[in-house]
Amino acid sequence: MSVATWVEVGRIEDVPSGHAARVEIDETPVAIFNCNGQFYALDDTCSHAEASLSDGDLDVSRCAIECPLHGSAFDLASGDPLSLPAVQPVRSHVVDTADGVIRIALSNEVA
Ligand code: FES
Repeated sequence: MSVATWVEVGRIEDVPSGHAARVEIDETPVAIFNCNGQFYALDDTCSHAEASLSDGDLDVSRCAIECPLHGSAFDLASGDPLSLPAVQPVRSHVVDTADGVIRIALSNEVA
């Protein structure tokens, strides 16, 4: 059984609603999103090619991120692609914001 390792990456005011931030955890680029006050974390690298999802357009109406390179949208909660050309999900990670601190536990699942 694996135990989640929580990593502090910042404070909630560092990522206002409708914005994203990029951090590295164990050399893994991770994108953090604030969609209407709810925080999400995904692998930052798109599953389709080399693009940084934290540079994409955040659609707060459906809590999805649109890749800046070819425009695939990904669900922030699941990491599932919502539109082509990407067909593979990106990993989603657990986020905790207790006491205003953003903590992330990296998923061990291979995307
Ligand atoms: S690199 Fe993201 S959709 Fe192509």
